[in-house]
Amino acid sequence: MRTQVVIIGSGPSGLLLGQLLHGIGVETVILERASRDHVLGRVRAGVLEQGTVELLEEAGVAARLHAEGLPHSGISLAFDGRLHRIDLAALTDGRHVTVYGQTEVTHDLMDKRDAAGLTTVYEAANVTPHDFDSGAPFATYDKDGVSHRIDCDFIAGCDGYHGVSRKSVPASALKIFERQYPFGWLGVLAEVPPADHELVYANHERGFALCSMRSTHRSRYYVQCPEGDRVEAWSDDRFWDELRRRLPEQTAASVVTGSSFEKSIAPLRSFVAEPMRFGRLFLVGDAAHIVPPTGAKGLNLAASDVRYLFAGLRDFYAEKSHAGIDAYSQKALARVWKAVRFSWWMTTMLHRFPDTGEFGQRIQEAELDYLVHSRAASTALAENYVGLPY
Ligand code: APR
Ligand code: PHB
Repeated sequence: MRTQVVIIGSGPSGLLLGQLLHGIGVETVILERASRDHVLGRVRAGVLEQGTVELLEEAGVAARLHAEGLPHSGISLAFDGRLHRIDLAALTDGRHVTVYGQTEVTHDLMDKRDAAGLTTVYEAANVTPHDFDSGAPFATYDKDGVSHRIDCDFIAGCDGYHGVSRKSVPASALKIFERQYPFGWLGVLAEVPPADHELVYANHERGFALCSMRSTHRSRYYVQCPEGDRVEAWSDDRFWDELRRRLPEQTAASVVTGSSFEKSIAPLRSFVAEPMRFGRLFLVGDAAHIVPPTGAKGLNLAASDVRYLFAGLRDFYAEKSHAGIDAYSQKALARVWKAVRFSWWMTTMLHRFPDTGEFGQRIQEAELDYLVHSRAASTALAENYVGLPY
């Protein structure tokens, strides 16, 4: 079998790239290790930059997002017992973010791919990219005990942090940058109206908390928890009590509790693998980089990688130009590192670290106080939060 671009992974990166390429007549096959239901069952973040929304529009998958997504023109920082609003729109010439779950983005992209009759092989085992340093790469995989080979022009490694693409590159060709944070996020989804109409990021001496949402009737909340904590140790009651203790009184009083239907703990890390291109293999999204969720950048960074790679492949197929694919890694990484810095900074400013102590807590409060009272500092946060230019 032959196709133009083999895409490994049917997360948002792989599906979005596939849809954009389909729009210019480039054929793709997606190889996905998990089942469709498994991919759709993963709960991830849900804040889209305007540039991400525009790319989804270009791919023709923004109708439901526009109908059901919630445009937000501000966020609040909670500290010192009260909320301090950052007016994102006023500080960024009217830009905003859209609250729409990644699961829904994935769903819309899968439906679109199905409707176009494009091939996705789910439950593909032992997916392996081959000969990507030559002009004739190919991928192999097993399905129902039968081995398959697909020859192609390019391979896009959209297979996430644990994928095979990055692991297929010789270690000597990769430079890894990594930072682990000594805590996790315990997240809860509940069918209850959100405590506030916008997101609230709280710095508290008991630890960080975040009030987010998926819709006007579904809330997503997080509390910072110790590294190694187990989800079984957190009953719903314990979670709601801890969340409310970390919020200003008025916000805590607005928390509507209910039984959770998803509860999980995620570790926090920053990770970057350089470069993002090896001959005819490209790393895209979580396969190349991970950010802690504090800045809501993971999905948006995946979309910006896709945007650069799509532009490069479009020029290759339309004009036989290699310039765009040659520049992919450098362009993508320039934007990645700015988001890595922003996510690290938000994480550092808002969480309680083992060595934060009373001094560190006062420094954080001073930084937050400066941030919300200085237009220059608020603008720096706002322009990063809504998304830096491409
Ligand atoms: N073979 C085939 N598919 C694989 C393999 C493999 N060896 N390993 C992983 N995959 C699949 C996973 O099952 C998953 O469906 O690749 C997909 C990767 O999807 P994501 O992890 O969602 O990564 P990406 O598409 O880059 O999306 C980035 O997801 O993790 C969040 O914060 C992140 O929001 C960001 C977004
Ligand atoms: C979420 O809604 O899951 C979410 C929102 C904002 C973040 C992280 C996660 O910064």
